[in-house]
Amino acid sequence: MSATKKFRIAMQKKGRLSIDTTDLFKSCGLKINSREDRLISHVENMDIDLLRVRDDDIPGLVMDHVVDWGIVGQDVLEEIGMERQQDGLPTDYTLVRKLDFGGCRLSLAIPVEQEWKGVESLNGLKIATTYPNLTKRYLDSMGVSFKVVHLTGSVEVAPRAGLADAICDLVSSGATLDANGLKEVQVVYRSQAVLIQRNQELFPEKKLIADTLVNRIDGMMQAHGSKYIMLHAPKDKVEEITALLPGAESPTLLTLEGNPNHVAMHVVSTETLFWETMEKLKALGASSILVLPIEKMLK
Ligand code: PRP
Ligand code: ZN
Repeated sequence: MSATKKFRIAMQKKGRLSIDTTDLFKSCGLKINSREDRLISHVENMDIDLLRVRDDDIPGLVMDHVVDWGIVGQDVLEEIGMERQQDGLPTDYTLVRKLDFGGCRLSLAIPVEQEWKGVESLNGLKIATTYPNLTKRYLDSMGVSFKVVHLTGSVEVAPRAGLADAICDLVSSGATLDANGLKEVQVVYRSQAVLIQRNQELFPEKKLIADTLVNRIDGMMQAHGSKYIMLHAPKDKVEEITALLPGAESPTLLTLEGNPNHVAMHVVSTETLFWETMEKLKALGASSILVLPIEKMLK
């Protein structure tokens, strides 16, 4: 089988999304033969290759049909889409899933010692960014004109280096801003990771891989939000107790040896249980309440 017949997925090599993306693949059962520094990692137990690249390159790889799938932030996807449109390049793709990680924001930031006097104060100033289109769209909407300093990396050092007055960059934990003496002053765009697919029918073998992975990803995402709850309940309170548990359709009821007035209830709840709910359960007579995380789920 030629290399191009392999299902190819582009992921971020190093940065905000790389660890979560790798974890997602691992929890989907992919055995990744990886040396972090390699461009391509082979998956040992499925016909998949992972391409580790800069996140900014991922939308283009999908839109140019070089890879079948990409996992990338919505911010990067939209920015690169606008850029490619201006260059007359293809911009189409299919959104497969929004993923439950990679939450971050594109924000304006200025040196900590400067007083922030609002977005208008940026009028006519230089702003360094990797995201000139998203930045411009926002500042245009605010009626602010600025000079863009387009950098593809190390944006956070631009103010200190005298290249710009402010930056517009992605903030996840805020550590990068802190380390560079900058403060976040205005959110421009909120983003999360998405799974995208190239627009073109997949070969049947590839389609099978895609369908299998999507099912497993759905199973992971559902499981993340869900809890397995076990408790002992008075028989006559089962209905009231079920009503308190979010998303618990039909609980499993088990008899308790030597305790005819109580049953054991096992329930999959779509949300975690807050202490308040647990206290209400207890007030209804429930006891031995256990809340367990669920690793995987297949409906
Ligand atoms: C982004 C951004 C910052 C960092 C912010 O980089 O450019 O460097 O994340 O994260 P923090 O708030 O948690 O410190 P990205 O992951 O896009 O990597 P890249 O700049 O190499 O593309
Ligand atoms: Zn990036």
